[in-house]
Amino acid sequence: MSTVREATATITRSITVSDTVSGPLTAESIAGAAYIAAALLFILSLAGLSRHEKARSGVIYGIWGMAIALAATIWLTLQDAWGTAHGRTGLVLLVIAVLIGGAVGLWRARVVQMTGMPELIALLHSFVGLAAVLVGWNGHLEAPELPDGLKAIHHAEVFIGVFIGAVTFTGSIVAFLKLSARMKSSPLLLPGKNGINLGALAAFVALTIWYVNDSQPWLLVVVTLLALGLGWHLVASIGGGDMPVVVSMLNSYSGWAAAAAGFLLNNDLLIITGALVGSSGAYLSYIMCKAMNRSFVSVIAGGFGLEAPRGGDTDYGEHREITAQATAELLTNAASVVITPGYGMAVAQAQYPVAELAQQLRERGVDVRFGIHPVAGRLPGHMNVLLAEAKVPYDIVLEMDEINEDLTGTSVVLVIGANDTVNPAAAEDPGSPIAGMPVLRVWEAENVVVFKRSMAAGYAGVQNPLFFRDNSQMLFGDAKQRVEDILRAF
Ligand code: TAP
Repeated sequence: MSTVREATATITRSITVSDTVSGPLTAESIAGAAYIAAALLFILSLAGLSRHEKARSGVIYGIWGMAIALAATIWLTLQDAWGTAHGRTGLVLLVIAVLIGGAVGLWRARVVQMTGMPELIALLHSFVGLAAVLVGWNGHLEAPELPDGLKAIHHAEVFIGVFIGAVTFTGSIVAFLKLSARMKSSPLLLPGKNGINLGALAAFVALTIWYVNDSQPWLLVVVTLLALGLGWHLVASIGGGDMPVVVSMLNSYSGWAAAAAGFLLNNDLLIITGALVGSSGAYLSYIMCKAMNRSFVSVIAGGFGLEAPRGGDTDYGEHREITAQATAELLTNAASVVITPGYGMAVAQAQYPVAELAQQLRERGVDVRFGIHPVAGRLPGHMNVLLAEAKVPYDIVLEMDEINEDLTGTSVVLVIGANDTVNPAAAEDPGSPIAGMPVLRVWEAENVVVFKRSMAAGYAGVQNPLFFRDNSQMLFGDAKQRVEDILRAF
C-alpha cells in the first residue's frame, strides 16, 4: 500500500512543473516548456474549431497538443522511475492507466454513431468529474506540510475540487442516461426543488468554511455525498428539450473540475486546459440558451423557476401525404428551394443523397440553400458536419437567422428529418413546452414537404402543428430512401 502511495506521489511530482520553470535546464523545466507548447496548441485548436474552414486544422492542433502533453508526462515519469522502486511502480501504474484508457477510448470512438456522440461526451465528462473527486481525496490523504495560510488554501482547493467533481460526475451520468433514453427525458419536479438546490449550495459554503478551519475527513465524506446528490438532482430536473445546454454546461463543469485538480497537483497545463474548457463550455451554454430562448441562470440552476409543461390534447385536424414522384415534380417547377435538415437526416445518413439532390436542382437552375437551426440534430454543429462530409458548398449553408427572413418567398421547403426546430408552436403557442424557442419559420414558404417515418413527435415530445398546415405535405419513410426515390424520379 505504501509503495502504491509513493508511486502515486511520484506521478504527481512528475506532472508538477510550476515551481521549476526558473533555474538550470532540468527534466522538469523541459516538461514545463512542453506543457506551455501544449497549452498554446489547445488554444489554437479552439480557435480553429470555431470556423468550418479551419475545423480540420483545429482538430490537428488539439491532437498534437495532447500528444505533447502525454509524451512530456510519460517522459518525466520515466526520468523518476529510473532509480527507485516506487518510481518503477509509478511507471507501471501509468502504463496500465494509459493502456486501459487508450483501449477503451479507441474502442468507443470507433463504434460510436455520430448521433450517439452527446451520450459519449456526457459519459466522458463523468470520468473527468470522478478523476477530480479522486485527486481531491488524494490531496486530503497526502496533505503536504504547509504554513498555516497556505494550508487553508490547500484545504479549500481539496473541498471545492471534490464538490465540483462530484456534481459533474453524477450530473453527467444522468445526462448520459437521459440522452440514451435509459431514463425518462421529462424533468423531475420534486416539491421545493429550488429550495433543495439552494439549501445544498448553502450547506456546501458552510461546510467549506468548517473544513478550511478543521480538515476532518468526515466533512469530505459529507460534501462528496451532498455533491453527488446535487449533481443528480440538478440534471434530473432539466427536461429533454434543454439537454443540449446541459451537455455543454457539464462540459464547462468538467473543465472547472480539471482546473481544480490542476491547482491541487500544482500542474499548470491542467489549470490552463481546465479553464479553457470551463470558459468555452460556459460560453457555448450561453449561446445555446440564447438560441433556444432559455434563461441561462435557470438552466445552470437545474431548471430554476420552470413550470411543469401543459399536456398536449389539441386536435390539429388531418395531414396530407405526397409521393416522391410528386415531390420531384414540385421541385422541378420551383424557383427556390430551402432544405432544413434535422436529427432524422443524421439517423438515415441521408446527407449524401441530399447533397446530390441539391446539386441536381442547382444544375437545373433552381436556387437551393440550406437552413441550419443551432440545435438541429443532437450536438452543436451536427448538421454542418454532415453536410461538410457530403461536400455541400459552405456558401449555400446558412444559419437560421440568415435564412428565416427569406422563407416567405421560397417556393418549396424540404424538412428532412427535422421536427422541433421547425415547430410553429414555439412561435405561436405560449403554453407549449418549447414556447419562445426560435425556430425556422418554414410554414411561411409556399410549399413544405416533411420527410419522416410517422407522425411521431420530435426530441422534446411535442406535437408539431406544421404537419397539419394547408401548405404542408408529409413524405413518409426513411429520409435517405425517399430522397433517392426523388433522384430516380428526376
Ligand atoms: P427532432 O425534433 O429530434 O426530430 C427528428 C425527427 O426525425 C423525428 O420526428 C423523427 O420522426 C425523424 N426521423 C428519425 N429517423 C428518421 C429517418 N430514418 N428518416 C426520416 N425521419 C426520421 O429533430 P430536430 O428538429 O433536429 O431537433 C433537435 C432536437 O434535439 C431539439 O429538441 C433539440 O433541443 C434536441 N437536442 C439537440 C442537441 C443539439 S446540441 N443539437 C442535443 C440534444 C438534444 P419519425 O420517428 O416519425 O421518423
